[in-house]
Amino acid sequence: MSPEKLQYVITVDVFENTKQLPTEEATLILEATKAMRNAYAPYSKFNVGAALLLENGKVITGNNQENAAYPSGMCAERVAIFYAGSQYPGVAVKTIAVICDVVADQPLTPCGACRQAIAEYEQTTGKKIKIVMATTTGKIYTANGIETLLPFMFSGKYIKK
Ligand code: THU
Repeated sequence: MSPEKLQYVITVDVFENTKQLPTEEATLILEATKAMRNAYAPYSKFNVGAALLLENGKVITGNNQENAAYPSGMCAERVAIFYAGSQYPGVAVKTIAVICDVVADQPLTPCGACRQAIAEYEQTTGKKIKIVMATTTGKIYTANGIETLLPFMFSGKYIKK
């Protein structure tokens, strides 16, 4: 007997360029691009920028920070989201835009660890975060909430007593 199947359908919106995006999201990509230019990535030479729009209207940016002891580095998304959490505790993140300067067949999509960090902020504030993914050339994907990128995610609700 074959097992029951649980199927996840994920959908992202695809845009040809920033001109097709709502102004708020296009502006956030610009902020992420500016942040990307200050990335400290001498080892990978893979520059990433992230920009968050908080519910209070503040824009927080970050970029990847590498280290000669490689695992000590940090991705752009987590630099930005942890800074937001430290400066504006409890304030929901509306949108996060991420960009890299490498020409690829798809936009930059956050790594697994960053997805988990984004999930934590959705869970603590109870609000979905829109994820806008770009490269300096090429298409832009947008996802409505982290579940799109992280199905079956681990959650603090499983460990809280
Ligand atoms: N990186 C990010 O900053 N964000 C991602 O989503 C993927 C990877 C960084 C980490 C490292 O500095 C470099 O890109 C190469 O992996």
